[in-house]
Amino acid sequence: MKLSSVVKALGSLCLLLADGFPVSMDGFPHIIGADQVRIKAHPGEPLVLHCDAFTNSEAGVTLSYWLVNGSFPEETASSGRMVESEESTLEEGTIIQRSLLLKNVTSEDFKSTFTCVVTSTEGTAQKHIKIAVASCGCNTREKRKRH
Ligand SMILES: *[C@@H]1O[C@H](CO)[C@@H](O)[C@H](O)[C@H]1NC(C)=O
Ligand SMILES: *[C@@H]1O[C@H](CO)[C@@H](O)[C@H](O)[C@H]1NC(C)=O
Repeated sequence: MKLSSVVKALGSLCLLLADGFPVSMDGFPHIIGADQVRIKAHPGEPLVLHCDAFTNSEAGVTLSYWLVNGSFPEETASSGRMVESEESTLEEGTIIQRSLLLKNVTSEDFKSTFTCVVTSTEGTAQKHIKIAVASCGCNTREKRKRH
């Protein structure tokens, strides 16, 4: 076989591979709801962060997990306060759910970024959650104290 025909054969093999993996937007996992969320919470109270996603994947495996400041919750200093739920599925596996329980919201959580990542062979989706101090109730108590 001449070199030129090897190169040609390789070239068409590459084309075949590119054609063989149709990259369509439909194959991407899709997290339900906005991808940037701000949730209000009271310090000292528990809070559950939810993440539900359409897997959009016929065959492949879709995984979901949470990150805190870009690290796995169990690797952060506040791991004891956070519990990730088991992954569960709905609608015959077309929807996957995973939540993160904050047992006791602290001031540190208001500075942290919580990210839900849903990933399959086709692609990855992310949802970022920031927690803000809920002002309801706390304000009125402070006002009363000042009187
Ligand atoms: C939550 O954390 C605060 C501050 O660390 C602590 O004082 C409080 O007892 C904790 N509450 C619960 C229910 O664990
Ligand atoms: C996340 O990062 C913020 C800002 O750098 C920091 O204040 C906070 O303690 C971090 N949270 C955790 C859980 O490590």
